Amino acid sequence: MEEFKIETSQRIKRLPPYLFGRINALKLAKRQQQIDIIDLGMGNPLDSTPQVVIDKLCQAVQDPRNHRYSASRGIFNLRREAALKYARKWDVELDPEAEVLACVGSKEGFSHMCLSMLGPGDTAIVADPAFPIHIYAVALAGANTVSVPLGNTDDSLKDIIQVCEKLYPRPKMMILNFPHNPTAMTIDDIGYFETVVDIARRFNIAVIHDFAYGETCFDGYKAPSFLSAKGAKDVGVEFTTMSKAYNMAGWRVGFAAGNKDMIESLATIKGYYDYGIFQAIQIASIIAMRQCDNDTIEQNKKYQLRRDVVCDGLSKIGWEVEKPRGSMFVWARVPEEQSKGKGSIDFAMDLLEYANVSIAPGRAFGENGENYMRVALVENENRLRQAIRNIKKFVQKG
Ligand SMILES: Cc1ncc(COP(=O)(O)O)c(C=O)c1O
Repeated sequence: MEEFKIETSQRIKRLPPYLFGRINALKLAKRQQQIDIIDLGMGNPLDSTPQVVIDKLCQAVQDPRNHRYSASRGIFNLRREAALKYARKWDVELDPEAEVLACVGSKEGFSHMCLSMLGPGDTAIVADPAFPIHIYAVALAGANTVSVPLGNTDDSLKDIIQVCEKLYPRPKMMILNFPHNPTAMTIDDIGYFETVVDIARRFNIAVIHDFAYGETCFDGYKAPSFLSAKGAKDVGVEFTTMSKAYNMAGWRVGFAAGNKDMIESLATIKGYYDYGIFQAIQIASIIAMRQCDNDTIEQNKKYQLRRDVVCDGLSKIGWEVEKPRGSMFVWARVPEEQSKGKGSIDFAMDLLEYANVSIAPGRAFGENGENYMRVALVENENRLRQAIRNIKKFVQKG
């Protein structure tokens, strides 16, 4: 008898290699040996969700009406609150019924949006470096990515136009993300998105803007929403999340907002796949958006202080850093004499092994990320200072 063998789908097989695998395995092994790792590898906030939100959840969870399946689009009051927030913060008008949809964290929404819009033969334009799901979700949908280098923003727009002019069949979608993960790059004003809308119209390309760090900004910088560009709703959608601004990463709440047809297509897929977020969480999320602007401001002050500790500390070691105006990351170039020509993945492994610090290697976000490291500002200032001391000791020992 032939040996029985499980065959996974082509969809799984065409996923690019997961470059965090070795690092995660070493991290786990170290933890099992009770070694204290300063983990700045992932943008997973360590700080607590605001107390009013926790209190509301505790109250809502007592109500049996919230124990049933919820609506896969999200309850109306949650979508309305998200629309009100858009109006208040970015002066964007949204119809909560047709232009807003709640998702199980923005990553789920983004992935299913790709699945609903893309298929074999389609191509999406993605930056290099990029947040990995921006590539994986396109691959899982059976489509291809074409990457444009994320240099300065004007150059990247020129590159996007060039791709649209040259590639046949024409790309169907472009995926953008400002403030950017992993580079923390931001755009100056809405002019960038106005050009994006023009390009989208000219070449008939749908736009997805990932605005996960839209509210995580410092030094008075206010990140523009794609949806506030004139005509944006005609060509695309924007994803936001409760994970970062409200420290609600584990609660899994995000939003898609914008183009009606794209929202409808995501709603269709979700209608088949899920029954919605636990309703008590949706109710508590309404309170977060309604009452927690100050918590977000305080959280951003923390990130700003941590950013200064990390940027100043790494600069002193000789790493090239620019202080970011947004996101929860510092993106730093490691000088050749310290990395000794090692790729960023091996360098990250060394830091974990010998300095007990975990930071993300730039290469894991794309070829253009090579020689860079991404530091997530998730630990407190003392722990960050300790991490810098550990890194310094390691690189100076040679
Ligand atoms: C750019 C970006 N988009 C989306 C996400 C995922 O957010 P969510 O928790 O809403 O799924 C992250 C999380 O790190 C992110 O960095």
